[in-house]
Amino acid sequence: MTRKVTKAVFPVAGLGTRFLPATKSIPKEILTLVDRPLIQYAIDEARAAGITEFIFVTSRGKSALEDYFDDAPELDASLRAKNKTAILEELEKTNMPSGAIAYVRQRRALGLGHAVWCARRMIGDEPFAVILTDDVIAADKPCLAQMIEAYNENPGNYVAAMEVPTSKISSYGVLDCEQVNGNTYKVNGMVEKPPAEEAPSNLAVIGRYILTPEILHNIDAAIQSNTTGAGGEFQLTDAIAQDIEAGNPVYGFRFNGQRYDCGSKAGFLQATVAFGLARDDLKDEFAEYLGDVMTMRAAAE
Ligand code: UTP
Repeated sequence: MTRKVTKAVFPVAGLGTRFLPATKSIPKEILTLVDRPLIQYAIDEARAAGITEFIFVTSRGKSALEDYFDDAPELDASLRAKNKTAILEELEKTNMPSGAIAYVRQRRALGLGHAVWCARRMIGDEPFAVILTDDVIAADKPCLAQMIEAYNENPGNYVAAMEVPTSKISSYGVLDCEQVNGNTYKVNGMVEKPPAEEAPSNLAVIGRYILTPEILHNIDAAIQSNTTGAGGEFQLTDAIAQDIEAGNPVYGFRFNGQRYDCGSKAGFLQATVAFGLARDDLKDEFAEYLGDVMTMRAAAE
């Protein structure tokens, strides 16, 4: 019987250098898209996929992230006294049951594979999801839910994949793969940041994974033998590639939805525009403003 995926790991122990100086004092995951932090989008996606245990891999300077999930009784009382029920309801949606969230520390940023490995005792011998909060995905059915559906039908390791134009493919991990059915591709190999002419496909890996416990054993072996990958880090991609070599199934899942790279400044700005325009309470005013900006730009050129 297929083991259910009920745990998700959120590696949030990176340094966030692309958002300095902001990330000097606030974690990148607390940066706000419209009115909610990146981490809220990730948690909502995980909850919608049936995840019940949320494991954060954190590091120094991330206490704002841990505090975010605490109840705020003074705030609640003050909003209640002022009859601000709409905001109260919004706040309540962010409440997490006691014990559902666990934190584990990564002492040094030794890579994404290492961060996931830090959660190994909490993961145990079960399949688990990994969500990179930088990748925010707008979709009718949340991306992880789409992936878990595919996993339940056909178990194995899954990486989320999206089509990327040739001009941009060299910024991504790229799948060497063949289509199995619909959105699912069997992965034969992965190439990290290939030159466009050497890319084996136009399908790039982005930050959603469903992984089997064997991946943890592969990372463990790399750490024990101090075998690092690109950038001198313990890479998750290397551990997944080893599983392909061992003959275990790894699938690329081409999800339906639009992904925004909120780990980059341009991606974050694009997401802000897209999510702002998607909001009923903001879209008219915001669209008008954007229209004015474009008109002024055109006139200035
Ligand atoms: P990134 O490559 O985006 O690194 O990590 P970063 O430190 O977050 O950001 P930049 O590049 O310096 O601006 C991808 C994900 O893996 C996590 C990060 O927190 C991010 O969610 N990560 C990376 C860790 O948790 N630990 C690591 O050692 C490395």
